Amino acid sequence: MDLVPVFSAALQYRHIRVADGAGFALGSVTEEDSSSKEAAIWSAPAAIETAAKKSPGLGEMEGEQHLGLAPNPTQHFITDACDSDHRLDWETDLASAMLVFSELKGGYLMPENTLTITDNRTNKTYMVPVENGTIRAVDLRQIKTGPDDFGLMTYDPAFMNTAACKSAITYIDGDKGILRYRGYPIEVLAERCTFLEVAYLLLCGELPTEKELKQWVYDITHHTMLHETTKKFMEGFRYSAHPMSMFVSTIAALSSVYPDARLVRSASDRMHQIVRLIGKVPSIAAMSYRHNVGFPYVYPDNDLSYTENFMNMLWKMVEPKYVAHPAIARALDILFILHADHEQNCSANAMRAVGSSEVDPYLAVASAASALAGPLHGGANEEVLKMLDEIGSKDNVPAYIKKVKEGHIKLMGFGHRIYKNYDPRAKIIRWSAEQVFDVTGRNPKLDIALELERIALEDDYFVKRKLYPNVDFYSGIMYQAMGFRPEMFTVLFAIPRTAGWLAQWQELMTDPEQKIARPRQIYTGYGEREFVPLDKRLPAPMPAAYPAD
Ligand code: CMC
Repeated sequence: MDLVPVFSAALQYRHIRVADGAGFALGSVTEEDSSSKEAAIWSAPAAIETAAKKSPGLGEMEGEQHLGLAPNPTQHFITDACDSDHRLDWETDLASAMLVFSELKGGYLMPENTLTITDNRTNKTYMVPVENGTIRAVDLRQIKTGPDDFGLMTYDPAFMNTAACKSAITYIDGDKGILRYRGYPIEVLAERCTFLEVAYLLLCGELPTEKELKQWVYDITHHTMLHETTKKFMEGFRYSAHPMSMFVSTIAALSSVYPDARLVRSASDRMHQIVRLIGKVPSIAAMSYRHNVGFPYVYPDNDLSYTENFMNMLWKMVEPKYVAHPAIARALDILFILHADHEQNCSANAMRAVGSSEVDPYLAVASAASALAGPLHGGANEEVLKMLDEIGSKDNVPAYIKKVKEGHIKLMGFGHRIYKNYDPRAKIIRWSAEQVFDVTGRNPKLDIALELERIALEDDYFVKRKLYPNVDFYSGIMYQAMGFRPEMFTVLFAIPRTAGWLAQWQELMTDPEQKIARPRQIYTGYGEREFVPLDKRLPAPMPAAYPAD
């Protein structure tokens, strides 16, 4: 019998527990004349008995000695080799037995792609499969100290080392500074595609054919209008409302306009909402800007491309037809491509976590956009501009870097959880910024940024921690040169990222392994306490503090 394939098959069942001594059973199944696999496993106890008599040389065992009847100890063996509350298939039992046998034989039968764990609390050994460089956290649950033990869990605050999904959308190699969408390098897509082509690629898995692209652009273009009640809804915001707050709230409000969006299990309904969302996010973004500056809203113009139309809705005044500068429209398109997806970042994770409750995509995208708004995520681009303003001139850079190294502040637009090398998007933005500056004139903040980068990249603090400029470091300088106010920067990030969030959502909704996201916790609070009546309570050690108005 060729054991390794059997072992591999058994691994697929994913419920492998190795009981002490079960490996002796392998003496029986290594024999060529095993009449069947079942016979082999059922004869295991006999093998154990024989092996015990002949120990320690398992290799000396004679096959025919182990292929006899399966006496009572068979049951004992099966129970022992299996998870106590889950009767496993015979292949798993066999695999369990084989593991210990392999160890006794010096490990030569140990299959690749498994991890052996010895629990020093119980002295038991377990084997778990390794797939794609990961083990499944639930495989650890079989590791228990006793019947009342819940089983081992992993503790991973901030998901430092936990894959929460399988995804075929975006690939990042953070050490090498590689970013690909569906296998295509970001540099190639930025040079050769439009944003809508890339959005199609992210959502559908392939670049569109000419015909598909035409239809896709038509569909998106014909979903850019907002219901008039949405316009009225936006009019209700305070005049000084931050555009990102308006963006998030209005996306959420679309849930009330499209009740059909709740049909999240229907592929065609999902696609309908995806087209609506990609079509409408620039309109909402532009309206949040116009509201902020007190200008009347501008309706979409279907003759224009995605980015040209966005610029039209932002900046059209009294001219009968808005004409975008082609270099600026293209630069914006490139920025949209660079921001379209970035695998399991904070906002994509929010999209997946919220979407896993089967809520409609408007509410899920609003949640993702809320996550993006934070200064450690997409909100960093606005913070970079504030930082450059605060630094003021190149001469003040060394003093600013000193404050960063002393831990008083962070260098915004620097550092990344995944990239431990130059963010490839930042490289493209630096290049693209030059094209924009040819049209708009150079943004003087660029010199401060370049000096910050130069000093930081030579400094031991940043070198040791592998802190490089990220996408947000240069994007704000470019946006500002194009005419955007800093409060709009994160909204500019959210427009293209909507395509990425929706691609992540599609993948989630069609992944049979996914369920509602529900992490575990390590409870550190009190055990059950007796209720304390109001007049007997002591002041809390940390009373709630409110700022004075
Ligand atoms: N300035 C100074 N020190 C930093 C910075 C920074 N920007 N980023 C990280 N560090 C230090 C950090 O203090 C820590 O030092 P130590 O080991 O001495 O405690 C070390 O580097 C590791 O940092 P970390 O906080 O453990 O890293 P993280 O992966 O948890 O955080 C990050 C990643 C992006 C939140 C962080 O680098 C940061 O806050 N950067 C500034 C904000 C920013 O630019 N965010 C945009 C990220 S890219 C686009 C996006 O996601 O939207």
